[in-house]
Amino acid sequence: MTELSPYHEDQELDNNASNNEHFRDILEQRISRRSLITKTASGAVALALASSLTGCGSDDDGNASTTPPADPAEKPKKLTFKPVSKNLDDIVTVPEGYQASILYAMGDPINPAYAAWDDNNVPKGPSFMYRSGDCHDGMSYFGLNSNALNYDANASERGLLVMNHEYINPTFLHPEGPTKVNGRRPEEEVIREVNAHGVSVIELKKDKATQKVEIVKNSLFNRRITASTVMEFAGPAAGSALLCTRFSPAGRQTRGTHNNCGNGYTPWGTYLTTEENFIGYFQRSGSDEYERTPEEKKALKRYGLSLSIDYLYEKNPDGSPKKNAKGEIIYVLDQQGKKIPNLDDQDRVAYLDKNSRYAWETAQGSYYAQDMYDRWTADVTADEADQDYRNGPNTFGWIVEIDPFDSRSNPVKRTALGRFAHEDCRASRLRADDNLAFYMGDDSRGEYIYKFVSDQKWDAKDVNGGYAAGDKYMNSGKLYVAEFNNDGTGQWIELAYGKNGLDEGSSAYPFESQADIVTFARLAADEVGATRMDRPEWVAVNPENGEVYVTLTNNSNRGTAHALDAANPRNYSDPEGGKGNVNGHIIRFRETGDTTTAESFTWDIYLFGAEASMAENINLSGLNDNNDLSSPDGMWFDPRGVLWIQTDDGAYTDTTNCMMLAALPGQVGDGGQVKTSSNIDTFAGAQVNDENLRRFLTGPKECEITGVTMTPDYKAIFINVQHPGEDSESYDAPTSHWPATQTDSGNTTARPRSATVVITRKDGGVIAGA
Ligand code: FEO
Ligand code: CA
Ligand code: CA
Ligand code: CA
Repeated sequence: MTELSPYHEDQELDNNASNNEHFRDILEQRISRRSLITKTASGAVALALASSLTGCGSDDDGNASTTPPADPAEKPKKLTFKPVSKNLDDIVTVPEGYQASILYAMGDPINPAYAAWDDNNVPKGPSFMYRSGDCHDGMSYFGLNSNALNYDANASERGLLVMNHEYINPTFLHPEGPTKVNGRRPEEEVIREVNAHGVSVIELKKDKATQKVEIVKNSLFNRRITASTVMEFAGPAAGSALLCTRFSPAGRQTRGTHNNCGNGYTPWGTYLTTEENFIGYFQRSGSDEYERTPEEKKALKRYGLSLSIDYLYEKNPDGSPKKNAKGEIIYVLDQQGKKIPNLDDQDRVAYLDKNSRYAWETAQGSYYAQDMYDRWTADVTADEADQDYRNGPNTFGWIVEIDPFDSRSNPVKRTALGRFAHEDCRASRLRADDNLAFYMGDDSRGEYIYKFVSDQKWDAKDVNGGYAAGDKYMNSGKLYVAEFNNDGTGQWIELAYGKNGLDEGSSAYPFESQADIVTFARLAADEVGATRMDRPEWVAVNPENGEVYVTLTNNSNRGTAHALDAANPRNYSDPEGGKGNVNGHIIRFRETGDTTTAESFTWDIYLFGAEASMAENINLSGLNDNNDLSSPDGMWFDPRGVLWIQTDDGAYTDTTNCMMLAALPGQVGDGGQVKTSSNIDTFAGAQVNDENLRRFLTGPKECEITGVTMTPDYKAIFINVQHPGEDSESYDAPTSHWPATQTDSGNTTARPRSATVVITRKDGGVIAGA
């Protein structure tokens, strides 16, 4: 198999073949508790208030906070830290006066019974149930109330840090890289890989005087959620036939979460993890194409699990494709996927010579039952769907709620929020007079932006409500997809059974229920004509005005397979090769009437990624050497209103490693109309300068910077370094030695490992403060 080479996100296929309209086509056609919460900006500030106010109440759940919190640090008027220069150093570089420490690296134990990581003695697979997973990604800090042992949004000295482990870098996870024996992955390696996925919950303590942050290794809160942890389903698809498997014939449970990328958190104190490129973990055999209904094939194809016709050939004894007299491969199926009639089924070897990304389905169960590995083969192998894993892929691609304070209950997959390549899930501003909403991106080329509007308005009494609060806010509501118009406005189109043409007669898929719609949300969005975007990654909500920002990281197909439009307006060449929207952009929108229930919005493009030296009609935001960036991905508004922007780049990496910048944005409409180098008119935010956008840090070699959160006192900021040295060809020839290089700049032997970094000021001051 070739899949053992490092996985890159850009390898994900574009599966959106809809003909949805683009802007260009259109163009050418032509202090009471309540009021305090209400007025509060949002995010963690509002959360802090809500939490402490709840603590004052008679319905107190044990929150010890009895006085209003100290005023959170004010939003800085301008950025004054010394910007970090672009560089290719194998280290995390932070501004003068700041210090970066490694907190939690791949393989580090979360329980004192397990030995420290040792490059030369890689721990056994099962021990990764008690060790850090790989490829750290989205992350949130939850203050811990020392008396009640529950959520306290004001607590900075004690808290739980919760983070995703998106995927793995098998080259460095195993003693000598990944192996295969007689076509099968060794079970020991597969267990290590499954356990290195998922989520970590770790307790932290911070010294009030020095700001030094450490992991509390013997905390009862420390735990790992992996790609085999049992999870519940809730919402419209729970219990539907689409989710039934041999593991859960009733369609109420599944095992594991994987490819957890961006994240989110709820105002009641739970963590939201996202299932992004989940589909590549499943294998389908060529013969399965004969077993599926046309509807099933439509859905499998739209989610990237169609069979590649190229692989469906007759096979010679050595495995090579059999050819006819003309030297052409003899296909079992024709190019339309139809059976070739004059071949005898008996003689055919419908053969898909391709395992899933990590080939977990090939393991032979000894430590675990075989069923643990069979579940990765999404073939029809039995009479009924509750006897095999044909529906396995339908049990992933959801938003998963995890209560870090409750280790007894199973995490819950919230199906009302739809199934797609989820990246990030951000709560709206907290207002007692507005419905709670969650904004989400589907990260693939040409995919969509969604929102889920809860039927419920936020009630601060629900802080510390756990999964019951999740049931209240996340099981019933309206799912929408965004359509951007070329005039700077847009619509939210509801994805509901029986509305907007979503029913048995839809051309995209014969929807029979809301369960069908949420499970195949991409097909529903195709049907209603949503706008195909340049890979929607993270979402951030501005606490000052509720505006919603979405990173559109890049799109090599923009201007070719995906037509240009005002919201995705650039197609140009990178000096080092590559075309399309090379450096990405950040779009933002404001709901009409500033209410989450609005079905329309206005938008502009806050920021265009570019190299500082590029032409003005590409570098449309006026970036300079202190703030130029490429491929924005991770993004978060801290509660003061500072926007943190992180990059996952391949287009500017000849000049600089990936980075994080701090920003102080204005609002939708603060710029004006511009024309891109592709001659597309669009709406740009005000040009930036280096007082309102500057580079805060750079990462080590071949990494992505992703995941950002802070303690509520703004004195410690956490970021993740994902996959340093990811282009290394072998475990014994690493191209990065980070994190060892952070303290030992001359290290030339250590394995690179993904890790969480905590950054504090040497004077103990506020991050990005005065
Ligand atoms: Fe996992 Fe879309 O980044
Ligand atoms: Ca990402
Ligand atoms: Ca990315
Ligand atoms: Ca470049």
